[in-house]
Amino acid sequence: MIYLDTQASTPIHPEVSQKVREIMNTCYANPHSQHSAGQQAMHIIDMSRKSIADHLGVKFSEIVFTSGATESNNLAIQGVIKQALTKQDRVEIITTPIEHSSVIETIRVLENNYPGRVSCKLIPIDSTGVVKTADIEDLLTMDTVLVSVIHANNEIGTIQPIRDIGRMLKKYRPESEYPLFHSDGAQAIWSEKLQCQYSNLDLYSISGHKMYAPKGIGALYVKKNTPIQPIMYGGGQEYNLRPGTLNAPLIAGLGYAFSLLQRDDHEQILLNIKTLRDAFLHHLLTIEGVTPNGDLNNRLPHNINIFIPHKAADEMVIQADLAGLAISAGSACHSGALQESYIIQAIAPDNPIQASHSIRLSLSQYTTEEDIQQAFHIIKSLI
Ligand SMILES: Cc1ncc(COP(=O)(O)O)c(C=O)c1O
Repeated sequence: MIYLDTQASTPIHPEVSQKVREIMNTCYANPHSQHSAGQQAMHIIDMSRKSIADHLGVKFSEIVFTSGATESNNLAIQGVIKQALTKQDRVEIITTPIEHSSVIETIRVLENNYPGRVSCKLIPIDSTGVVKTADIEDLLTMDTVLVSVIHANNEIGTIQPIRDIGRMLKKYRPESEYPLFHSDGAQAIWSEKLQCQYSNLDLYSISGHKMYAPKGIGALYVKKNTPIQPIMYGGGQEYNLRPGTLNAPLIAGLGYAFSLLQRDDHEQILLNIKTLRDAFLHHLLTIEGVTPNGDLNNRLPHNINIFIPHKAADEMVIQADLAGLAISAGSACHSGALQESYIIQAIAPDNPIQASHSIRLSLSQYTTEEDIQQAFHIIKSLI
């Protein structure tokens, strides 16, 4: 099987896998227990927290472990809005139409639960899928408490100008604690360098299984003194923001995956993947009718998304699978059924078939030239 669905889930790095298994076998005590076995497990967690905090350029105590980016996005958005509603009658969220469903659905539920009190404005998006900072500034009002912009898109891979947005929002902060700035970094963190503090981010979501660590583990960066409430209640773990016994093995795996980003060879890995991706894309664009979706420059190095006018995406995914190639289209919902891509719809509103005729191919650091050649032949013959 040629696996080109890394943005759905990366393979697990062998050293990460080894780390998780080692900790699972040796550090089974409850990390919140007072005895030394518990303290040993907590020490493992502390080291991971430090590895993540160092990479993001933030304080140790500003990292909150969660089950993944879905939970991090929920905690960031619901937690901020819950707190803001204790002080303001009306609150506004500004976001993009190309967020992950865990952002879009969370905001939709808040709007429904607090009719007339919570509302959302969408930042206009063009065919590149990259937002303009000035468009966000135009949407700001006195009621804006949260701006949430995905760092890199999960389907079209476009990277947003997070630093510019943060700089613009900072102008409004001397007078008020709002608007807060959140970004969903699940897809970006593996390849994009980001210092949360310099980007003026207040909240940043991370997921393990988008960066060669296991599923079911993630984190949320929460800047000190951010006005936020928990959305779950229990034992008061994670600075009273996220209760529940911490999972030392998975946290160790996440911390280890972050330490890999600091290694000398990481830049070379990124360069190799981009070179392979560029060559692959170049070949794909020689197939009659095939065009790229999204911006070609502000883009993750491992992402390709193409529009194939003569072939429906769901047919393509199934036939590719039968030919031994794993790719994706739209987003896989919990049932595994394909839904038409609202992200492609947002960047190509005038083309009624583009959303149902586009596929994503995402490379991993283990993808080889031979994989790419075979994948190209499969796709070309299916088209
Ligand atoms: C951009 C983005 N945000 C959030 C998520 C959800 O992450 P998790 O599976 O860790 O909950 C994903 C996963 O597909 C994603 O791509």
